[in-house]
Amino acid sequence: MQTAELIAPFTADQALAFGKTPMTFRHGLVDTGLFEDEALAELLDRYPAELYDINLFDFDADGQAQMRTGVRGRLPGREVLAGIKEGRVWVQLRRVEEHYPALGAAMRQAFGQIAANAPGFKPAQINGQLILSAPNAKVPFHADAPGVVLFHLRGRKRIWIYPADEAHMPQQLMENIVLKQQTEDLPYRREMDGAAQVLDLSPGVAVTWPLHAPHRIENQEGFNVSLSVDYQTWGTRILNGAHYTNGLLRRAGAPVAAMTRTPAPARALLWAASVALKRLPLVEDRIKTMERTFELQGARI
Ligand SMILES: [Fe+2]
Repeated sequence: MQTAELIAPFTADQALAFGKTPMTFRHGLVDTGLFEDEALAELLDRYPAELYDINLFDFDADGQAQMRTGVRGRLPGREVLAGIKEGRVWVQLRRVEEHYPALGAAMRQAFGQIAANAPGFKPAQINGQLILSAPNAKVPFHADAPGVVLFHLRGRKRIWIYPADEAHMPQQLMENIVLKQQTEDLPYRREMDGAAQVLDLSPGVAVTWPLHAPHRIENQEGFNVSLSVDYQTWGTRILNGAHYTNGLLRRAGAPVAAMTRTPAPARALLWAASVALKRLPLVEDRIKTMERTFELQGARI
């Protein structure tokens, strides 16, 4: 890969798979030097507190997770890094495209190259989260409302990707997610793993999956750094807007059709309604009011 080329040209199979089935491809973001310890420590020191999430998961024997969210406290960036490397914590820096401008430029360039490789893919908006996590950290079974490309940068992790069908991703729960009535975590049972595609991620590999496909992650080795980029296209906006309106209709007791049997013109009408409905204070954002329950104290987490 040349330095100006952040995405290796897709094969014909990769071009067909993008957004339709789970797939991986090579990227060159690691070579930018933006993810070395020193650069990360500096970034942690100056990152806005309201966009800086520290999470700690406790898993029970069935793999179901409980998340606690905390704050950074007064620790300098290099001590936060040391805490992540030793603990079960993971740190998420949201909206990195704005607060790490060099990375924002690389993200836009990478997405321009993905769009050139994947026929019909026209991202209208991208937002990045930089995720720093411990060697043994896990991310529980969940689904994201926007599309996602995860660029892996340091360490090794394994991702399980499940079908986006009613058995794994019930439509009503996606409505709750877009209405911000629940976090993205979903009910998980071990036997679901039989339906999962399992992919190993090393630095320089990016992974993406069909919209709303649930997934979970287990770090395998080393301090892990990944860039998770959410994207919206007009297609994802319309679909998520339709889920939003359906969620409100369901709450009002109206019948809601399965999205898989809702034709495109009806989806467009539901989306148009969501644009108007979002201006009304009909539902309270329950995610915003989630409490932060601990303060990071170095390696004791
Ligand atoms: Fe995710």
